[in-house]
Amino acid sequence: MLRSRILSTGMYVPPLRVTNHDLSKLMDTSDEWIRQRTGIEQRFWVEGNESTSDLALKASELAIERAGIQKSEIEMIILATLSPDHEFPGTACFLQKKLGIPGIPALDVRQQCTGFIYSMAIADQFIRNGVYRNALIVGAEIHSKGLEKSDRGRDVTVLFGDGAGAVVLGAVEVKDPKKDSFLLSTHLHADGTFAEELWTPAPGTGNSKDRVGASELEQGLHWPRMNGKTVFMHAVKRMPEALNEGLKANKLSPADIDLFVFHQANLRINDMIAKQFGIPEEKVFNTIQKFANTTAATIPIGLDEAVRAGKLKKGMLVASAAFGSGFTWGSAIYRF
Ligand code: ACO
Repeated sequence: MLRSRILSTGMYVPPLRVTNHDLSKLMDTSDEWIRQRTGIEQRFWVEGNESTSDLALKASELAIERAGIQKSEIEMIILATLSPDHEFPGTACFLQKKLGIPGIPALDVRQQCTGFIYSMAIADQFIRNGVYRNALIVGAEIHSKGLEKSDRGRDVTVLFGDGAGAVVLGAVEVKDPKKDSFLLSTHLHADGTFAEELWTPAPGTGNSKDRVGASELEQGLHWPRMNGKTVFMHAVKRMPEALNEGLKANKLSPADIDLFVFHQANLRINDMIAKQFGIPEEKVFNTIQKFANTTAATIPIGLDEAVRAGKLKKGMLVASAAFGSGFTWGSAIYRF
């Protein structure tokens, strides 16, 4: 049975560490408020001209090297981001140029916090159908250039950080589905009814005359807006649903899973899910304290951090679930 499996992981965050105290100098917030509500202690921000594809490149180079393959053996690039280098073309094309592997398909995924799970699902289809053997999948974000660093933007700004995570997904002939490493399932969902509960309205053709003009800028439509309570309410419902769906499809119980690497939007969301499923604390790998919410990058960053911390080892059964803007949500179950 031809399937895909994670061959390697890589990650990169820029060097500038921004603590909650640092943010409190820019806006009316406090370390106590941020920690209590979200679990976040710090995040990393780029300085100067670094772009999303620069971060993606560093994470990708590590993942490719650790996969033990040449760059030329990558047959497809999928990059998930909500903070692209430019409006168009897609950031995957800029990454491709920097990697120096022209000719292969390069695809951007715009599913925000669920972007990495959507990307895994897409690559898996190409691999299990025998079209490609190795796909590079990247989640990368530079939030810091798109956050309103003032009192008006504080509810969103404190939540996000910059970073990139990458995996190489490769083809594998599965002989023993109970033991071999492979991607068992992905489940994807979206409900555009809630598209405007967490969004950045401009630039875009959904605005009046110009995609971004003086009026849009004056109204601050180029800054992200979030109805935090609605997002929270849906996240604690949809992530467990998607996780359950994945477990059920594979006839697994939460106790069968060795490690849960969830999206990192809020420590309270992940704690609630763990409680609901009776998952012991040591089986949930959280990174939000260190990196905040890096949107499409949280899951691959979590995987790479878990490998380096010795918490994620070959042969372990892993479950990921995510929820984010769109609304979009989904899950993936894989033997690492
Ligand atoms: N610092 C200090 N005070 C703040 C801040 C801040 N940064 N932000 C808001 N407040 C104030 C509010 O103004 C409000 O004041 P008021 O009571 O005087 O009106 C008070 O704090 C409480 O605000 P709430 O919105 O009720 O806080 P809540 O407990 O809901 O927590 C939070 C807010 C952390 C944003 C929470 O709602 C949450 O985590 N939501 C989900 C976020 C998420 O999952 N995003 C999706 C992923 S992102 C993606 O897909 C791109």
